[in-house]
Amino acid sequence: MSTISLPRRFALIPAAGVGTRMSARLPKQYMMLAGKPMLQYALDTFAASDLIAHTFVVVSPDDGYIDDMLSALPHLQGTVTVLRHGGDSRQQSVLNGLHEIRTQLADHDWVLVHDAARPLLDNIMLEQLITAIDGDKVGGLLALPIVDTLKRSHTGRVQTTVSRDELWAAQTPQMFRYGLLTHALERAMIRSEAVTDDASAIEMLGMQPKLVAGNPRNFKVTLEHDIALAEIFLKG
Ligand code: C5P
Repeated sequence: MSTISLPRRFALIPAAGVGTRMSARLPKQYMMLAGKPMLQYALDTFAASDLIAHTFVVVSPDDGYIDDMLSALPHLQGTVTVLRHGGDSRQQSVLNGLHEIRTQLADHDWVLVHDAARPLLDNIMLEQLITAIDGDKVGGLLALPIVDTLKRSHTGRVQTTVSRDELWAAQTPQMFRYGLLTHALERAMIRSEAVTDDASAIEMLGMQPKLVAGNPRNFKVTLEHDIALAEIFLKG
């Protein structure tokens, strides 16, 4: 009699960026935020969740910070595996990470891809996403309905106002089955279709990922003023 294992859930954190929009001395994911390196927040959140079996973090092959960071955090021992296979783009880093863990995951296992640059993900948001997606055929992502009026411009003057009706801003984690996500990202890569999140690769297969209303706190630390805002939330 064959046994079919229940799907498990794994976190995959692409953390191989250099943070070009931030004029910092070290890569953005290692910048100190309220006393901790930015990456530690996501690692702590996943490690504390019973719903996550293990976390993989993808860093660049010549990353000189991750080992020191983790050796100072004994509570994370055994919860995270470092994959030194970051690529030239987020998409490539995620795909390289998925390839590296292929012997450890089944196609039906879930992968929650989460940006290291979103330190404010908490257990409540994580559980909301997992509860909404666990039984879903396609998978989905945290996202927020757009509330601001949107302007399009390439000169600094308004060309046009874009309707915000039905528009959402994608966040992470983005939660898809291992097999489907790997196939979708490989296909996008072969076709040279640049995707800035994981859901777009799934959409290119003609599928419709589910949007799960997130929280504005889960913003991506991108520009220098985001640091101060993140610290206000983290200290609060
Ligand atoms: O640069 P951005 O903030 O959009 O990056 C989103 C996430 O993707 C970050 O966690 C960053 O470290 C990661 N990334 C990566 N490999 C790259 C570029 C970005 O893992 N080549």
